[in-house]
Amino acid sequence: MSILQLLYLASATLFILGIRGLSSPETARKGMNLAAFGMLLAIVGTLFHHEIVTYKWIIAGLILGSAIGVPMSLWIPMTAVPQRTALSHAGGALAACLIGVSEYYRHGISLGTGHMAIIGVEVLLGALTTTGSLMAAAKLQGLLPGRPITYPFQNASTISLLAFLGGFIVYLTAHPGATHLFYILLACSFLFGILLLVPIGAADMPCVITLLNAYAGLTDAAMGFMLANRIQIVTGSLDGSSGLILSILMCRAMNRPFTNILFGAFGKVEEASTEVLESKKKSVKSLTIEEAVNLFNEAKRVIIVPGYGMAAAQAQHAVRDVADKLKALGVAIKYAIHPVAGRMPGHMNVLLAEANVPYPELFDMDDINPEFSEADVALVVGANDVTNPAARHVKSSPIYGMPILDVDKAKKVIVFKRSMAPGFAGIDNDLYLLDHTWMLFGDAKDSFTKLAGALQNVALQK
Ligand code: TAP
Repeated sequence: MSILQLLYLASATLFILGIRGLSSPETARKGMNLAAFGMLLAIVGTLFHHEIVTYKWIIAGLILGSAIGVPMSLWIPMTAVPQRTALSHAGGALAACLIGVSEYYRHGISLGTGHMAIIGVEVLLGALTTTGSLMAAAKLQGLLPGRPITYPFQNASTISLLAFLGGFIVYLTAHPGATHLFYILLACSFLFGILLLVPIGAADMPCVITLLNAYAGLTDAAMGFMLANRIQIVTGSLDGSSGLILSILMCRAMNRPFTNILFGAFGKVEEASTEVLESKKKSVKSLTIEEAVNLFNEAKRVIIVPGYGMAAAQAQHAVRDVADKLKALGVAIKYAIHPVAGRMPGHMNVLLAEANVPYPELFDMDDINPEFSEADVALVVGANDVTNPAARHVKSSPIYGMPILDVDKAKKVIVFKRSMAPGFAGIDNDLYLLDHTWMLFGDAKDSFTKLAGALQNVALQK
């Protein structure tokens, strides 16, 4: 075995162990390190490739890649990880797509049927993943409107375009010399990625990001077949299959039919929502920290519902502090974790673990939902969409059908946020209008720090 093959084998093994490690929060960090080391070995192994004629461009690529990658990892905040991930998908998919184009450019008419078919699939997947991921990143960053954009015959036109692209690939396998058709395939594949993302609402991005991850993996695997590169076949297949499994799990968690996301056909608004209830908004009740403390009188069970706002405010330590003070007053505390709370899978678990919240106090949505009706107080910390009752009954809502935390069923609800601004999906939340809901406006960290102080005083007076 050559050094290159040995290093590739070692890195493929490390990737598999890495993904295995990611299956549990306790082993996730180790899994990530193993996978990163595997990637380093794969890069070093490639440097031993016998077809390399000069290292000049490789070194230039390493310097450029590091110059972009290092600042990205150091400076992009954790709350922006989904859009960062989407940008990485776009970069990887564009590279694979361009390699397909260069292979076609170099060999063109002399390509065999199998080779041409693989290049066609690689270019299609690579191009649509590039523009699709850029669209996803722009929606997540708020550069494009988060609300779904729809137009008549949308699904029919998108699916027809896909059928045409499939037809182009079939024609090219028989006539690889049809150069103009190859470049039309390339341009239309870029367009297809945009059309695929346009009708998908920002709140449904978690499903889409994981699907784009799967597409990027499949592109990589197709490139591996084309270049007869075993490591790329292994890594691409791993990425493709794990991304696919993750997107199926995400769709299940958000109650979205998986088949629909393949064609960008979900998250769309069936009719314009005109339910801006201005008069009701006036009936929103707000309270002060001192008034909030009174709501805990006689409370025995409190459920804390963290969301993106807790991450943005970095309030997790203050939240745990309040939980500790309540526990000292004899209150039982549980945390309700929605699968897409925050901006990435496991976001809330990571933050609460960082604040040393005991893991057994964290409950998944299905386990905690039946308990809300027994809870004396629910504390909503910067969570919005994942608590919005519109998901249950407002058919025109972009989040209709998404399972939510049944916060409204608690006896009293206190919502900690800075304003009446909507959450990620850009829609109003009727939870705030209920008779048993009170708003505590302000930065979550600031409010929880003050609340912890006030509860400390209560404890001292007892
Ligand atoms: P959101 O619906 O985004 O609501 C977050 C709330 O936090 C906002 O209403 C905001 O209100 C408040 N907030 C922001 N900064 C704050 C601060 N410093 N202090 C207090 N409050 C603050 O969050 P969510 O309920 O966690 O829902 C997650 C959303 O993101 C879902 O729509 C989900 O689909 C989407 N998403 C999730 C993921 C994953 S995988 N988790 C990935 C991408 C997108 P104010 O501005 O009034 O303070």
